[in-house]
Amino acid sequence: MTDPFVTVAKVTDVPESQGLAVPFEDQMVAIFKVGDEYHAIADSCPHMGASLASGPLEGTTVTCPWHAWRFCVTDGTWCDNRRIRIDTFEVRVVGDEIQLRKMK
Ligand code: FES
Repeated sequence: MTDPFVTVAKVTDVPESQGLAVPFEDQMVAIFKVGDEYHAIADSCPHMGASLASGPLEGTTVTCPWHAWRFCVTDGTWCDNRRIRIDTFEVRVVGDEIQLRKMK
């Protein structure tokens, strides 16, 4: 059986106060570092498609750089309506590599 995780970045590539956008499968994914943990959500904002990775990160919340919609990077929920959720990805770190797997 093949390993479903794919290496997409090094841990040193992810900045402290915003995300890192990486290509994964058929879309861009935004990786964020919160404390010692990494989280990954769909990079494209569902409003008008801005890159969420380039928005400021405060705690577990990233703010879209275009119109300030806010998303939780740990579960992909929109802060103004928790029933709306963008894609999230499973993250693991092996050595200094960040690896992703799509959530089922
Ligand atoms: S594009 Fe993200 S809030 Fe408008």
